[in-house]
Amino acid sequence: MDKAQQDALKKAAGIEAAKLIENGMTAGLGTGSTVRFLVDELGRRVSEEGLRFTGVTTSRRTQEQAEGYGIHIVNIDDVDHIDVTIDGADEVDKNFNGIKGGGAALLWEKIVAINSDRIVWIVDESKVVDTIGRFPLPVEVIPFGAGHVIKKFEVKGYKPVLRMAADGKPVRTDENNYVVDLHLERIDHPQDLAQDLITTVGVVEHGLFLNMVDKVIVGDPNGPRVLTNSNK
Ligand code: 5RP
Repeated sequence: MDKAQQDALKKAAGIEAAKLIENGMTAGLGTGSTVRFLVDELGRRVSEEGLRFTGVTTSRRTQEQAEGYGIHIVNIDDVDHIDVTIDGADEVDKNFNGIKGGGAALLWEKIVAINSDRIVWIVDESKVVDTIGRFPLPVEVIPFGAGHVIKKFEVKGYKPVLRMAADGKPVRTDENNYVVDLHLERIDHPQDLAQDLITTVGVVEHGLFLNMVDKVIVGDPNGPRVLTNSNK
């Protein structure tokens, strides 16, 4: 699949997901290229259909895009709940275990997700996999002592790589932390790995989102299809 085809599928999933937002809702808005299409469509609905809702965003990037369309964005602590959060993902398997954080927004994404009544992911079909892990697993790490955390990951065989920006400096998250990508190739025991990562001092959060999502809208050449998680 080339990038144009992939973008078309992402766009179709984003447009489909935008139908879930209704007047008066509080909606979590994720991060990434698929979510950009979602926010474009919500912006269209705001201007053409008079849609009015409140958004909580998972990154400053999404906040800027949404506010550019006149969408009302508030801080997560200014709402008592989020009706539905729509976000992208890097991989998802048949047990609804996924990897997120390709766009370095995993910490805010997880905080918004766990405070949401419903979670919906929008992906193109290439993201649906048998076993997660081919996509490098992002881990958000505090800069102080990050070198030691990376060495511990190396000893465990996690193949860590500090994510670098185009300017040659480490990527910084919206919380000013680093991202370390683990090149694991496959993750057979995601719960064990999640437990190991979150109990490593210096790790703030990891990109394993295990059985958290309610629905996945998959951009498919035959039209968007919906995978529903009945085990949540
Ligand atoms: C950002 C994310 C994104 O949702 C994920 O990387 C998917 O991005 P895209 O829609 O650009 O493929 O987790 O941290």
